[in-house]
Amino acid sequence: MDGFQIIKELEEEKRIDQSRLDVLLQTGNREVVEYLYQRARAVREKWYGRDVYARGLIEFTNHCRNNCFYCGIRRDNTVVERYRLSGQQILECCERGYALGYRTFVLQGGEDVFYTREKLADIISSIHTRYPDCAITLSFGEWKREDYQCWFDAGARRYLLRHETASREHYSQLHPQEMSLRHRMECLQQLKEIGYQVGAGFMVGSPGQTREYLLKDLLFLREFSPHMVGIGPFLSQKDTPFAQEKNGTLEVTLRLLAILRLLLPKTLLPATTALGTVAPDGRELGLQAGANVVMPNLSPVAVRSKYTLYDNKICTGEEAAECRKCLEQRVELAGYRIVTHRGDSLVEIE
Ligand code: 5AD
Ligand code: FES
Repeated sequence: MDGFQIIKELEEEKRIDQSRLDVLLQTGNREVVEYLYQRARAVREKWYGRDVYARGLIEFTNHCRNNCFYCGIRRDNTVVERYRLSGQQILECCERGYALGYRTFVLQGGEDVFYTREKLADIISSIHTRYPDCAITLSFGEWKREDYQCWFDAGARRYLLRHETASREHYSQLHPQEMSLRHRMECLQQLKEIGYQVGAGFMVGSPGQTREYLLKDLLFLREFSPHMVGIGPFLSQKDTPFAQEKNGTLEVTLRLLAILRLLLPKTLLPATTALGTVAPDGRELGLQAGANVVMPNLSPVAVRSKYTLYDNKICTGEEAAECRKCLEQRVELAGYRIVTHRGDSLVEIE
């Protein structure tokens, strides 16, 4: 099958099937790959122009009850120094972020039972009351429907929960037995039903990932049609069972970003921190492959180096106090511009 033809048909939403996507994943033809990026950029510009949405990321706790094999803040990691931000500290992050122009705050953390449903609802409604023009995004894992509902009622409108892999076999290679793909998917479904704008996604090049699994991820995402899709390379972390595993690559991540842009034209696609870690210009290249969101770190500098999901994470040093400035320059050099409105997804909520 002709790669150029497949890309055209994908863009026209004519024919999308596993074997066609597989050709795009596999091709070594540089002209086809270049054409793929070119079309992804065109589709992104059709819907979002050259705008890049910025989200202020607040990593508020690195305590976690889970034990995912890949993750540096897993329960069994005794080396990592644990921290929690108080409600007051979180609000201070928002205050700094608001002054810097952010209109979306992402509260991200491990699954930390210290923050009860009520505590979190309090924090969310304080942010919502103080910054009614801002969107509040949550990203702290698997909870009960009632919890998700309560936080929605408190004012949160978006939830990021990567599915990690759409294959049951692969899921069990990445997670201990007590975790299940079924529960993950149930959570995603509930979030959608409650009315959240939902983000899913996966790591590129995670241990055991095959092309077949990637194709399943792509077809799942096409079907689930999330408002946002977060992907970034898997990066090993020295105190996890995957310490010796190979990292995902820049090239495969970029290619998947471009394919996702064609598969889900209006979705929000972040150029992730992991992408900026695997290559110094990774996020810029991500934007040029179809990504349209960046999520600079707003956490207090003192805790940043403790939120180490993987090794060598960027933006953790003193010099990163103002990710906003750094990213603004990077985005401009890549030919885009950061905009400061809420940046809602164009994907309709059905
Ligand atoms: N490398 C890259 N990404 C990781 N994540 C967790 N651990 C790693 C790692 N070692 C990703 C997961 C999770 C998100 C918050 O970060 O996909 O959902
Ligand atoms: Fe954080 Fe560049 S974006 S230091």
